Amino acid sequence: MKTNDKLEPTVFVIFGGTGDLTWRKLVPALFDLSQDRSLPADFAIIAVGRTKFSDDALRRRLHDGVNQFSRFGKAKTAAWNQFAPHVHYQQGDYKKLQTYTALGKQCAKLEKEWGTKAHRIFYMATPPSMFGEIPKYLGKAGLSRDRDWSRIVIEKPIGYDLESARALNAVLAASFEESQIFRIDHYLGKETVQNILAFRFANPLFEPIWNRRYIDYVTITVAETVGVEQRGGYYDQAGALRDMVQNHLMQLLCLVAMEPMVSFQADEIRNKKVDVLHAARPILRDQVPQFAVRGQYSSGHPNGKKMPGYREEEDVAPDSQTETFAALKLFIDNWRWQDVPFYLRTGKRLPQQASEVSIQFRAVPHQSFPPEASLGWLPSRLILSIQPVEGIVLGFQAKYPGPKMQLRPVDMRFSYHESFAAPSPDAYETLLWDVMKRDATLFMRADQVEAAWQIVTPVLEAWQATAPSDFPNYTAGTWGPESTQGLLSPGHRWPLPTELVAMEKTKGKNP
Ligand code: BG6
Repeated sequence: MKTNDKLEPTVFVIFGGTGDLTWRKLVPALFDLSQDRSLPADFAIIAVGRTKFSDDALRRRLHDGVNQFSRFGKAKTAAWNQFAPHVHYQQGDYKKLQTYTALGKQCAKLEKEWGTKAHRIFYMATPPSMFGEIPKYLGKAGLSRDRDWSRIVIEKPIGYDLESARALNAVLAASFEESQIFRIDHYLGKETVQNILAFRFANPLFEPIWNRRYIDYVTITVAETVGVEQRGGYYDQAGALRDMVQNHLMQLLCLVAMEPMVSFQADEIRNKKVDVLHAARPILRDQVPQFAVRGQYSSGHPNGKKMPGYREEEDVAPDSQTETFAALKLFIDNWRWQDVPFYLRTGKRLPQQASEVSIQFRAVPHQSFPPEASLGWLPSRLILSIQPVEGIVLGFQAKYPGPKMQLRPVDMRFSYHESFAAPSPDAYETLLWDVMKRDATLFMRADQVEAAWQIVTPVLEAWQATAPSDFPNYTAGTWGPESTQGLLSPGHRWPLPTELVAMEKTKGKNP
């Protein structure tokens, strides 16, 4: 295996080692890191699971996952043969101390073989019902004690609402210091999401106008064409607000709205982000219909193909009241953003996959061109496109060629694929590498998670209290329920995220 001498020995323990996340994301990302020489020479994966498996059977399963999901395509035999011996399996019950003492012994054995102490990373890739248990046992077994060498990684759902998130954070805090806890939001590992910080704070151009004086409103869209796939059981208990808004969309909001950081230190950046969430104007229970919209898809024919309605999906209750679409109107009550609406929306089975932030600038203070010159006039707009197209578009006015002064909207575009030959790593590669380096910049702190829950909890409670009378209320393949328009202040609109995609398609580069 190609290795990186600068990294210290590491044992990567995955609870839920036979599960989907391990197979689809974690091991392919670790394998890809090994191909990029980003793993230490002394490295082991211990996959822990309840089922009986041999090392070889597990390796075969993981090999299949790597072949399907590695960024490099099907694994070369030599590369896999070098990687596979680093993978071990340990069967164990998550609620028995002996599982953890055995794990401790196995880590100690590896350290002895390597002749050096190793970092121990405990990744909870289990069903969430185990999140409250595993940290307790790790604590009891003494595996969390060494705060410089032991870390725990946890992924959504971090709680079900504010109260349960606080309870889970308390369980984690009972065994681990905050600096040892890495809460993953995979959106933060995306290159284009990290680029929001680079764009805003590495260029002096936009920051002076990045405020209420020049910005009229902001929309954040995360649209998916997929339905709930095989995850109906989980999703039907969660819904779009918990699954996407509380985490991914809130993180995007923070990056767009935060104040400039003083330094690129994890806590400095996280402080600035949490300030945004604290400044969000609370949505009161009786105001929920003015500030939040929910939707659920019915069957439809996107692209001419019949798709089932949400209630017909596998493992979904036939009378489910779970939302597959959620939209919020938020205000950030501070000097920079007072009264600028931030519209957030996400949904499944929408017409197009597109995650983007659109910054709509105000109109010019005085229109000096004659009305006939500016018939097609549009205020300037900046689109930060996260996926599938990766780039930035600035829409502005230009003079249309000809003897007369006529204005037309045009675009200035930056595309990742055109500007950089280097391929983007998968979000998990970035995040796992950061965990190994103990860099918490892209991870959520307890207070951040709780502040995000604080914003959405009144909406969740109001929705829980009143059953939606109109579900299903949007057809698969459309942009969500009609009532989403009602969130918008006069003159505002939900942008159609088509332009950038159209551009990339013309060039045959759309991934
Ligand atoms: C996950 C959600 O966190 O993010 C899924 O649970 C969603 O429902 C997914 O499909 C979207 O992630 P991405 O990276 O495909 O935009």
